[in-house]
Amino acid sequence: MITPVLLCGGSGTRLWPLSRKSYPKQFMPLVGETTLFQAAAQRLSGPDFSAPLVLTNADFRFIVAEQLAEIGIDPSAILIEPEGRNTAPAVLAAALWLEKSDPDGLMLVTPSDHVVFDASAFRAAVLVGSEAVRAGQIVTFGIKPTHGETGYGYLELAEPPGNHVEQVIPLRRFVEKPDAELAEEMLAAGTYLWNAGIFLFSVKSILAAFEAYAPELVGPVRAAVDGGSPDLDFLRLDPEAWSGVKDISIDYAIMEAADNLSVVPFAAGWSDLGGWDAVWRETVQEKNGVATSGPVTTIDCQDSLLRSEDEALEVVGIGLRNIITVAMPDAVLVADAARAQDVKLAVAALKGKS
Ligand code: GDD
Ligand code: MG
Repeated sequence: MITPVLLCGGSGTRLWPLSRKSYPKQFMPLVGETTLFQAAAQRLSGPDFSAPLVLTNADFRFIVAEQLAEIGIDPSAILIEPEGRNTAPAVLAAALWLEKSDPDGLMLVTPSDHVVFDASAFRAAVLVGSEAVRAGQIVTFGIKPTHGETGYGYLELAEPPGNHVEQVIPLRRFVEKPDAELAEEMLAAGTYLWNAGIFLFSVKSILAAFEAYAPELVGPVRAAVDGGSPDLDFLRLDPEAWSGVKDISIDYAIMEAADNLSVVPFAAGWSDLGGWDAVWRETVQEKNGVATSGPVTTIDCQDSLLRSEDEALEVVGIGLRNIITVAMPDAVLVADAARAQDVKLAVAALKGKS
């Protein structure tokens, strides 16, 4: 059996004003009916998966429990990190927790703020990867790059993928978040895929990787798990032990260093919704490139996203071209679509004001 490990401790500032520190994008229905977090949990349910393990922080714990109850999924546990320490400590805590009950098990670590369009194709790719995992590999899922993105990890394949995409290919190198020049080089080389941020490994092999490449995390994270206190359905990791844990992502701590990585190319649709431009691309419904959500009326608009996040808030767009509008009762964003990534600047500016 594979245990889904759902990471949902981050706050996506590039989707302000919808995504807030107190209620970030993974808990919103950005694309489709369910929230991104619910979709991630549903995607990994079925005969091959056991109940999910969720890692989050104290602020989100009731949202997590409620959203899982809404879709009828009972988590195996919800671990609460006293403070965000990025993904490496969270994954290590999950592995140490699972070691107690399922030491020979497999874990599928996934962000909860992505969209995957074909869930059954994704599950098939996971099963393809699980063969390699049983042989001791750490498996990542690779997406064909479309531009020189600097916000992703890059996977250099040891051999080009064949026509049949669902296969396991050894990885030559993992490069996390390159600068723009290197990103363009890797795009042009044609032998790199983007890292989807989804990882499959056995409890044993990821613990061995932490011992080998990030041994300084193991003692404090183990102490935080062993000293954790149960609180209703949650396990609060020990705050004192956790305060001594280094802040580092799994990509830098393990993936760039490990030599037993393989990749399963995945072609059935993926987006990390890293900005309103991506949300627009994934939800565009009309030929003229207009995407809307909520009570919105458009007249002669093109290539624009208009969202009203309140049933009582009418939004009207007239003659818009390449505009993103997101209206909420307490904040409205109006932006040039080409500047969607700059929304994080607005969030920083607003922080300075308050
Ligand atoms: N529980 C927990 N605790 N979750 C966390 C924490 C934490 O401290 N920090 C981040 N997360 C969650 C986020 O909510 C998100 O779902 C996931 O972990 C990944 O973290 P991000 O901070 O979004 O990572 P990234 O986007 O910079 O980079 C990763 O994803 C890219 C693809 O979207 C890397 O894996 C890249 O290599 C990859 O290309
Ligand atoms: Mg991300």
